[in-house]
Amino acid sequence: MTNKDVKKILVGKAEIDAITTRIAEEIDRDYADNNKKLLLLGILKGSVVFMGDLMKKLTIPVEIDFMKVSSYGAGTKSSGHVNILLDLQRPDINTCDILIVEDIIDSGRTLSYLTDYLTLKGAKSVRTCTLLDKPSRREVDFNPDYVGVEIPDEFVVGYGLDYNEKYRALPYVGVLEPHAYND
Ligand code: IMP
Ligand code: MG
Repeated sequence: MTNKDVKKILVGKAEIDAITTRIAEEIDRDYADNNKKLLLLGILKGSVVFMGDLMKKLTIPVEIDFMKVSSYGAGTKSSGHVNILLDLQRPDINTCDILIVEDIIDSGRTLSYLTDYLTLKGAKSVRTCTLLDKPSRREVDFNPDYVGVEIPDEFVVGYGLDYNEKYRALPYVGVLEPHAYND
């Protein structure tokens, strides 16, 4: 059953479940080393649903934290700037193997900026994980380490992603009907 504002489902529940299972297995394998201290760093707010599902499927020890950034203004257009609205406050960042968890990579600016920022702050290692990738939209040369699925250049909502703060709770990723937009 879909929401009346959703034109089509792009990534359904079963596919999302298979993706999170696969990525959790990859992370389990890559961070199995006892000397590693895995810190999942979710980027608010879009990553929370994905990160919640992903972390439940990990079998290795994991800590979590969050940062909040804004690269988008209202609606569907990016401002091109990354602003840190909530910073990572940890005295032990130099002992953390940080895996940034994002909902989607579009221009690449957010993940590229955050990777440099956390590396400069002294993180032991920094890698990136995203549920969705829109490679055709890239403005900076950046490739995430873990990718759920590549999607075409369409604005999507659901499973954490919003349009003007709406639709985050949909259990799938979908494209909106034209009548749902008001910008
Ligand atoms: P980037 O910095 O251009 O890679 O943008 C990444 C951020 O833009 C994501 O964390 C999302 O918040 C937002 N974003 C990009 N594409 C979409 C979309 O299709 N739907 C909702 N948010 C999006
Ligand atoms: Mg986001």
